[in-house]
Amino acid sequence: MNHTLPQPLIPGQPITALAPMQDVTTLPFMRIVNGYGPPDYFFTEYFRVHDHSTLEPHILESITDNPSGRPVFAQLIGEDLFHLERTVKLFDGYPLAGIDLNLGCPAPKVYKKNVGGGLLRDPERMDAILATLRAACGDGLFTVKMRVGFEDWDAYPIFLESINRHHVDLLSVHGRTVKEMYRGEPHYDLIKLAADTVACPVLANGNISSVTKGRQVLAETGVAGLMVGRSAIRNPWIFRQLRESFSGQAVFRPTLSDVRGYIDRLWEETRKPESPENRHVSYLKKFLNFVGQGVDPDGAFLHEIRRTRTAEAFFACCDRHLVEDGRAEILFADEPYAGLVARPNHETNRGKATCAEEFASG
Ligand SMILES: Cc1cc2nc3c(=O)[nH]c(=O)nc-3n(C[C@H](O)[C@H](O)[C@H](O)COP(=O)(O)O)c2cc1C
Repeated sequence: MNHTLPQPLIPGQPITALAPMQDVTTLPFMRIVNGYGPPDYFFTEYFRVHDHSTLEPHILESITDNPSGRPVFAQLIGEDLFHLERTVKLFDGYPLAGIDLNLGCPAPKVYKKNVGGGLLRDPERMDAILATLRAACGDGLFTVKMRVGFEDWDAYPIFLESINRHHVDLLSVHGRTVKEMYRGEPHYDLIKLAADTVACPVLANGNISSVTKGRQVLAETGVAGLMVGRSAIRNPWIFRQLRESFSGQAVFRPTLSDVRGYIDRLWEETRKPESPENRHVSYLKKFLNFVGQGVDPDGAFLHEIRRTRTAEAFFACCDRHLVEDGRAEILFADEPYAGLVARPNHETNRGKATCAEEFASG
């Protein structure tokens, strides 16, 4: 088998990937990120696989209409061998780079069905799924995105053996357990263990928050590349910045005025004609929860934007904090300011975390 991965935009550089994020990495968001400098690889949010599943059109369009020309991997979540195989066949004829399996989603609603992160409780089942998908993908690429375990990482070496046994082509590791959700620092030592153990390239995932952090994780783990999720919502320039840094060039630093432009793009690209303005404000606030981590150290912007209800108040708040009174030229922070949390229920010990549902529900 010769399963060669697509070349990164600049051959020889570490691979960069936009992490799959439900309700975020839609076609409009991929368009926006592409405009600021695309990642080497895109991953779709997950396609659900069950008895009656079909390919959801709103996810499919992020493959068929993606303007970047970069490879797009289609992520699946499911556990039924027959239907996983059936779903791979449904993709025949679509321009995808490969199939990716979700072994990490930590939402209780999801893992209780023994899919996503739930499969990390059952190494035998996981092995059977890898065998099925490997065979179904044939000469096409088959990739996996996993966490390091469910409650702990005792079975992690067994998972890594399965990855090798079934000739997975690329492994993305989010260095936390399912139970750790998004809290604390990822276990980069366990990502390094994957890079040292598996035959395929590994992408490090989890808190790759800046160029500096990305370079540090690359050096520490020896992985082939970086997968970035939430920090690409905060800073959609991150893929361009990583490439510039890998090339030894000066790294672009956005100003608050650039951030203001990004918010306009988010508003326009993600707006659905049928969506009332106030609902769209709520949707955008989910993105601004991340953006706001880099605007001011006291979190004044975050505090105010969360309280806006109308488009008028929303944009007035953006103008006040990002462009007025000489703020336009202030540099957007490279890293989130300490203590500013995008989603308190997910990223601190205070709340009970779910997965993307909170993002979707407003
Ligand atoms: C809103 C949201 C939705 C997500 N949806 C998915 C998903 O559909 N599939 C998946 O494998 N991971 C999903 N994740 C997890 C991310 O891909 C990634 O593993 C995680 O956010 C850690 O990376 P980061 O620190 O760069 O954000 C989601 C994360 C967030 C924040």
